[in-house]
Amino acid sequence: MDVYVRLDGQSDLSGQIYRQLRTAIHDGLLRPGDPLPATRELSRRLAVARNTVGVAYERLVAEGYADSRVGSGTYVRTAGLPARGAAPATDATGPGLRPRALWAGLSPWAAPEVTGPVTAAYDFRVGLPDARLFPYDVWRPLIARELRLSGAGAVGYGDPAGHAGLRAALARHIGLSRGVRAGPDDLLVTTGTQQALDLIGRVLLEPGDRVVVEEPGYPPARLPFLAQGAVVTGVAVDAEGLLVDAIPPDTRAVYVTPAHQFPLGMPMSLRRRTALLRWAWRHSAAVIEDDYDSEFRFGGRPVETLQSLDRGGHVIYVGSFSKVMMPSLRVGFLVAPAALRTALRTAKYAADWHTAVATQAALARFVDDGLFARHIRRMQHTYAARHRVVVGALTGRFADLAEPVPSAAGLHVTAFTRRDHRGGHGCHHVVPGEVTDHHLDGRRSSVTGARIVGQVLPDLVERIGEFSVRRVHGQHRQQ
Ligand SMILES: Cc1ncc(COP(=O)(O)O)c(C=O)c1O
Repeated sequence: MDVYVRLDGQSDLSGQIYRQLRTAIHDGLLRPGDPLPATRELSRRLAVARNTVGVAYERLVAEGYADSRVGSGTYVRTAGLPARGAAPATDATGPGLRPRALWAGLSPWAAPEVTGPVTAAYDFRVGLPDARLFPYDVWRPLIARELRLSGAGAVGYGDPAGHAGLRAALARHIGLSRGVRAGPDDLLVTTGTQQALDLIGRVLLEPGDRVVVEEPGYPPARLPFLAQGAVVTGVAVDAEGLLVDAIPPDTRAVYVTPAHQFPLGMPMSLRRRTALLRWAWRHSAAVIEDDYDSEFRFGGRPVETLQSLDRGGHVIYVGSFSKVMMPSLRVGFLVAPAALRTALRTAKYAADWHTAVATQAALARFVDDGLFARHIRRMQHTYAARHRVVVGALTGRFADLAEPVPSAAGLHVTAFTRRDHRGGHGCHHVVPGEVTDHHLDGRRSSVTGARIVGQVLPDLVERIGEFSVRRVHGQHRQQ
């Protein structure tokens, strides 16, 4: 391994080499068992006598930092390294670089970080698809195919707007399945919904502009707008969705989840969708439509997208592969009115040039070959069964405890609690929903009391978990 050593002047060269290697060992840059560079090699690179390096190594060995193995070289000692003196304290308030004041008040939402398989029997975390349903066997060869010399992701940079094949495949897919009117050139591939919102904020907002979000709503959506210096205002939702009449007149952009309100789950009524579009037209405002999980429909007529109803060019439609594939893929897309396209493409270039090409190319093939549609059908089938069981449990056996919000789509169900069940026994076999509030600034809105079931009802969740898992597994076996 190449180790960077910087020599100053001509005095105590061995001491300089010794101290820098010792620091690298203390800092963990050189780990126990790592080989030190061969003395011949390091002396050549540093233009010093081989013996100069040898003296430094001997000192490291003598002081217990390294072991010399005859005929093999010198290695960082694997156990019993000498302790380092007290590390200098890092002072976040002293002189040095500081972020802009705006960033002091911002932090990521505490989303569930998933690093390995969950071993609990019931996983009620909100927003995560079941990892066992990902089509690993189909996906692996598609990615492998791109990671070859002849593959799309082999070399060079891609188009900031996204892989042409993926844009064409997606335009067809959302045209057919969601009625979104878009050609390949209207689409921009993003690194998830999160980046789509960030790019939209960059090209649309001036500091101080107002952005309205749903209350309760999807907390991560607020951050990109706040980071642009926007004022983010929560507007309550009722059974029909966002209360359009309550949107402040100076609002520049409205972010909504019309197909499946997050987190409550009801669709936005046609009346409200029409009112929102009319409002946006009257106020020359943008409507950001987050269509994050509408692939999962379990009955009833599909909710028309705002984008397909829009006649004024005010809607930016945002889609994601996070639910239907997996969140760690980090692929999403947006469809924007023509006037915003060039700026959005440039903003994407400024942010990260483009999303990983191999992933895009593999996805393009996945969609084009009909594998995506097949995967969605399978997922729909499974999630519809789970949805039926959970809603059935909430409206039947547990009806006295909770009242689910009616919804016929998406990966989660939200329920209003009929009584306060805090203090129920712990849930050892359940990974509950996030404990984080979905309300802006922790305030309660008109829907006080609404919580993801797993948050406040551990005992109920456990009982539903047992009931649901038994039923879902039972149904699986019969399929
Ligand atoms: C409302 C909403 N929008 C979008 C997403 C997906 O975001 P991303 O594409 O950044 O993973 C989620 C995921 O949980 C969500 O709940």
